[in-house]
Amino acid sequence: MANKFYITTPIYYVNDIPHIGHSYTTIAADALARFNRRLLGENQVWFLTGTDEHGQKIQRASDEAKLTPQEFVDKVMVKFKELWVKLDISYNDFIRTTEERHIKVVQKALEILYKSGDIYEDTYEGWYCTPCETFWPETQLVDHFCPDCHRPVERISEKNFFLKLGKYQQDLIKYIEEHKNFIRPDFRRNEVLSFLRLNKLEDLCISRPKERLSWGIPLTFSPGHVTYVWFDALINYMSAVGSFDEKNNYISKWWDNETEVVHLIGKDILRHHAVYWPIMLMALQQAGVKGVKLPDTIFAHGWWLNKDEKMSKSRGNVISPLFMADKFGVETYRYFLLRDLPFGLDGNFSEEAFIKRFNSDLANDLGNLVYRTLTMVEKYFQGVVPEFSSSGERVKEIAAKLAALPKEVENSLKAESDFNFVRALENIWEKINLANKYVEETKPWNLAKENKTEELKNFIRLLVEAIRKTGAEIAPFMPRTAGTINEELGSGTIKKGKPLFPRIEDQKPKK
Ligand code: ME8
Ligand code: MG
Repeated sequence: MANKFYITTPIYYVNDIPHIGHSYTTIAADALARFNRRLLGENQVWFLTGTDEHGQKIQRASDEAKLTPQEFVDKVMVKFKELWVKLDISYNDFIRTTEERHIKVVQKALEILYKSGDIYEDTYEGWYCTPCETFWPETQLVDHFCPDCHRPVERISEKNFFLKLGKYQQDLIKYIEEHKNFIRPDFRRNEVLSFLRLNKLEDLCISRPKERLSWGIPLTFSPGHVTYVWFDALINYMSAVGSFDEKNNYISKWWDNETEVVHLIGKDILRHHAVYWPIMLMALQQAGVKGVKLPDTIFAHGWWLNKDEKMSKSRGNVISPLFMADKFGVETYRYFLLRDLPFGLDGNFSEEAFIKRFNSDLANDLGNLVYRTLTMVEKYFQGVVPEFSSSGERVKEIAAKLAALPKEVENSLKAESDFNFVRALENIWEKINLANKYVEETKPWNLAKENKTEELKNFIRLLVEAIRKTGAEIAPFMPRTAGTINEELGSGTIKKGKPLFPRIEDQKPKK
């Protein structure tokens, strides 16, 4: 059993400012990091995010902005960091691929694989569209024109470096078959497996000549080339938490067998993570590098859509996380993203769905339970939480269900449960609703009228317990709300505040 947990997000391209999709993966990773810190201990968890700062997309974006690539990435990178502060993202480290610590590890990995023969030099020939800076297979050309911009393509032949993917194809298939949690969810795992079984992997071109692309990490053994942006990017997961020693072994506290290593990604980049990345790691192992293992889980979630279309800058349909968080609050935003869309599937983002969830789950269920309970502690017991005395069957039954909650949430948030945030939140809300139902069936106002003080004490005590337990479980998802609940509960004497989530009234169109 792993006693450490290392979780990563993709490193996002800084050619664009962050949108809802980026915040989704990062909030999910944050919830898992927070959850595991409580489970395993603060120092047993490492949460990495960062930015992908090399490659054509960035070079082009910086040209358009009339900045040098370095000036450009320095500027946009800040937007990501600012958003993570705003959204309470508790990352331990932020890696940028332009950092020296990263460049060194990438260059060393390239050298090792070049020496072992898994990276080799060859001539690359193909149809190239200069404006799009893309090679196209002949089958995709439209009458010898670029399928994207419809301009003529040219035949280009150039020296490049290749990674032997084909050599590891069977090993990878076997590895995926033998490790159920390696690619999740299952339907993604099957997708990768059938792709690998039905296609012969071609070796991967991992370099670009400097004349065509200068914004990249130079190959030490061929200074006229820089490395392909994905070879560079994937290595961030290792370069951020370790380095090669003088014997070319990889040393890291977070990439060992005591650590569960989890990569959260979107489905758009599954092939890079589930095929290229493990093969890069297998090739390093084959080259004799010690301290390298394959990640334990690569989880590919689905897409947030806007009216059934993927949100992207080019489509102009991006919803801003800053706007949503300002309008409805950070806590609600975090809750909505994880609660509304089953982790793994696609779904539409809409303000209507947002308001509906807010009013039912947060205002009605949670907010109401906390507010009415604390009001009763004030009204019946002058703000002092009463002690349990003897307790009846119903009290015991509810107490037992509350006691089972932490384990339920833990089970829902395991890799083999597909980090099921929806289920974890359902586990919690089941208890919240149970407590609300208990209020309605008990009718405490009657108990008070009839002077049934012992019963009233047990009743209130149990409700306070329900808030304490559910409040603790909410913490990974809504850390501030959990903090507020904890403060209001105080120790012995409560400190009631305002309602946590005042209802959002239907917004009539303004004239
Ligand atoms: O691909 N719905 O960076 P990127 C859900 N630099 N998630 C979304 C999304 C959407 N509509 N749009 C983006 C890259 N994402 C590379 C990664 S990793 C070694 C290199 C999220 O800026 C999702 O996690 O294009 C997706 O995989 C990622 O942003 C892509 O970010
Ligand atoms: Mg992308």
